Amino acid sequence: MGAAVQSGYLASEPDYVAALSRHFSYVTAEYQMKWDPIQRERGVFDFSGGDAIVAFAEANGMRVKGHALVWHGATPSWVGTLSPRDLRDAVDNHIRTVAGHYRDHVAAWDVVNEAVAADGSGLRDTVFSRGLGPDYIADAFRTAREADPQALLFYNEYDAERKGPKSDRVYELVKDLKLRGVPIDGVGMQMHVEATSYPQPADIAANMHRLVALGLLVNISEMDVRIRTASGTTAQRLELQKRVFHDIVAVCAAEPRCHAVTFWGFTDKHSWIDSFFGADAPLLFDEGYRAKPSFFGVQDAFLGR
Ligand code: XIL
Repeated sequence: MGAAVQSGYLASEPDYVAALSRHFSYVTAEYQMKWDPIQRERGVFDFSGGDAIVAFAEANGMRVKGHALVWHGATPSWVGTLSPRDLRDAVDNHIRTVAGHYRDHVAAWDVVNEAVAADGSGLRDTVFSRGLGPDYIADAFRTAREADPQALLFYNEYDAERKGPKSDRVYELVKDLKLRGVPIDGVGMQMHVEATSYPQPADIAANMHRLVALGLLVNISEMDVRIRTASGTTAQRLELQKRVFHDIVAVCAAEPRCHAVTFWGFTDKHSWIDSFFGADAPLLFDEGYRAKPSFFGVQDAFLGR
C-alpha cells in the first residue's frame, strides 16, 4: 500500500510522518524525482529531495518507487531547445544518472509517463516524440534497465483504466514493446477518478487481465477519488467515495499480478487535486489526519471483505 509523498512535509509535519509510517509500506516521490527538480540546469544534478524520501523510507522499512524518468510534465525548458542529437544524449544521460543514483534504493521506476495522446489516436505530441520519434519509449526502457537492472520498470498512464481507445492504444504500445524484447515489467494505471463517473471495476479487471496476459505486472499508481460533483450530504458523499475506493482497490487485491496500490497523497490537507480541479477531499485521511470512510473501504478491500 503506497502513497505519494513530498519531502518538505516529512521535515515539517510530525502528524504527516506519523500517519505515513503507520499505514503505508511503499512511497513514491510526488515531485522530487521528476526531471525538473533533479536537473533544472543541464548537467547539474540535485538529488536532495529524492534522497530525503529514500532515507525516510529506508529508516521506516518502506519501499520506494521512482517517478518519473521521461515525462513531458515537470521537464525543464532547456530540454525543448536541443537538437535531436543533443536531446537523445540528454535523455540518455538523465536516465543513466538518475536511475544509476537510485540503483539498489528503488523497487521500481515509472520509466515513461503519459506518452499516449488523450484521445488514444497515437502517441502524444511532446518534446520527446517530436525530437526522437516513437522509439524514444523503447530506448528509455533499455537505458533504465542498464542503469538499474534490479528495478521493475513500468509504463504509467492516466485515463486508461477502462477499456476504450486510450487503454487500447496503451495495450498496443506495451504489446509491441514486449514482442520486441524491450525490458518492460508492468503498466501503471494512475486512477485519478471522479466518484460520479468512475471506471467500472469489471472493466478495470478486464483491462488488467489483458495486460497480465502479455506477461506484465499492473499497478494502481496514483489513486484519488474526487467527490466535488457528487450530490447528497457530506456523509453520503464520503460513503460513495468509500465504495469507489473499495471496489477499485478490490480489483488489484484480487489480481495476483497487481504489484501495489499507490494513492496520490494520503491526507486531504495536501492533495494536488485542489489546485488542478478545485477544492475537494479526494484521499483517505481528512485534514486533521483522521481516517475517513474511504480508508476503511480500502482496508476492507485488502482484507477481502
Ligand atoms: C502532480 C503532482 O501531484 C503535483 O504536485 C505537481 O506539481 C504536478 O504533478 N500524473 C502524474 C503525476 O503522473 O506526476 C502528477 O503529479 C499528477 C498527474
